[in-house]
Amino acid sequence: MTTFLIYIFMLPFGHATLPLVINTWPFRDATSAAWSVLQAGGSVLDAVEQGCSRCEVDQCDGSVGFGGSPDENGETTLDAMIMNGDTMEVGAVADLRRIKNAIGVARAVMQHTEHTFLVGESASVFAENMGFTAEDLTTNKSLSIFTQWLKDNCQPNYRKSVLPDPSKNCGPYKPRAMSKQRQRERQIDIHAHDTIGMIAIGQDGHVAAGTSTNGANHKIPGRVGDSPVAGAGAYADSTAGGAAATGDGDVMMRFLPSFLAVELMRTGAAPSSACKTAISRIKRYYPEFFGAVICANTTGHYGAACNKLPGFSKFSFMVSDSQSNIPLLKSVDCF
Ligand SMILES: *[C@@H]1O[C@H](CO)[C@@H](O)[C@H](O)[C@H]1NC(C)=O
Ligand SMILES: *[C@@H]1O[C@H](CO)[C@@H](O)[C@H](O)[C@H]1NC(C)=O
Repeated sequence: MTTFLIYIFMLPFGHATLPLVINTWPFRDATSAAWSVLQAGGSVLDAVEQGCSRCEVDQCDGSVGFGGSPDENGETTLDAMIMNGDTMEVGAVADLRRIKNAIGVARAVMQHTEHTFLVGESASVFAENMGFTAEDLTTNKSLSIFTQWLKDNCQPNYRKSVLPDPSKNCGPYKPRAMSKQRQRERQIDIHAHDTIGMIAIGQDGHVAAGTSTNGANHKIPGRVGDSPVAGAGAYADSTAGGAAATGDGDVMMRFLPSFLAVELMRTGAAPSSACKTAISRIKRYYPEFFGAVICANTTGHYGAACNKLPGFSKFSFMVSDSQSNIPLLKSVDCF
């Protein structure tokens, strides 16, 4: 008993024992699904694919999978990516229509093409050819979010420097002279930006990472966020570690926070400090951005960081390792 207690106290926060699954937000069933794959001897890629697929089925927080985040036309479209940290292969899809299993399609891009990234209608045709079922991604819930938005004069939206005034009116919009540009008030709705980002590290240190999301609520059709972009939404390198990001993707993708965090871990930074630096870099230009990053290195140490905002002072994530053997909810104080 005493030995056991000493053992517990000796473990620094963020230490894990391999294998390890870590993902953004309290999406516990996704962690479980990934963990089961590893327990059954499956690969880290399968774990990430199955974990993120779970969220696509469960519509985690309405922010992943079908029936959420309708765009300006009321349609739900999906973005996803998966990365193999052994080979540096990536498969990604964005603006995917009518197919529910976006990360499955991303995996198919990786395994059945020499490409990295397919988008839009053509990605859906590719998916159907690969055996995925085409279905309507609209639900009563996404339809009601959309109709309410229309009733609210299309508020909020992502337009700026256009006429008519996008803060009061629906489109169609025309460009307005830039000189008249006024800073639009930032609206922070953390649930408009959730994403599942997941890192799996095997017993032997193999790293895989992936993401899946339905993007930003009321996005302009065609908008692609950070999630499917390698180095932005997630990154994996079995010689250094893995990272995944969630939040205001339009801003975050400009800084490749996942790539940055992995590079910092390569040079010896602890995962929590690598995550912090990735957040700080964005903060310097966008102090009000909403976002968080999770990081894990090849020995199974992990950490997370987030940008503190009114209404967002703690970021929750899930961890499963061979010590816990079940998904544990963790959180980090934003700074
Ligand atoms: C969606 O709404 C329609 C009309 O209100 C209703 O008939 C239908 O049962 C609803 N579907 C679900 C899955 O709730
Ligand atoms: C992972 O991070 C921990 C904590 O900083 C560190 O002790 C460990 O050496 C790192 N592992 C590798 C392979 O760099």
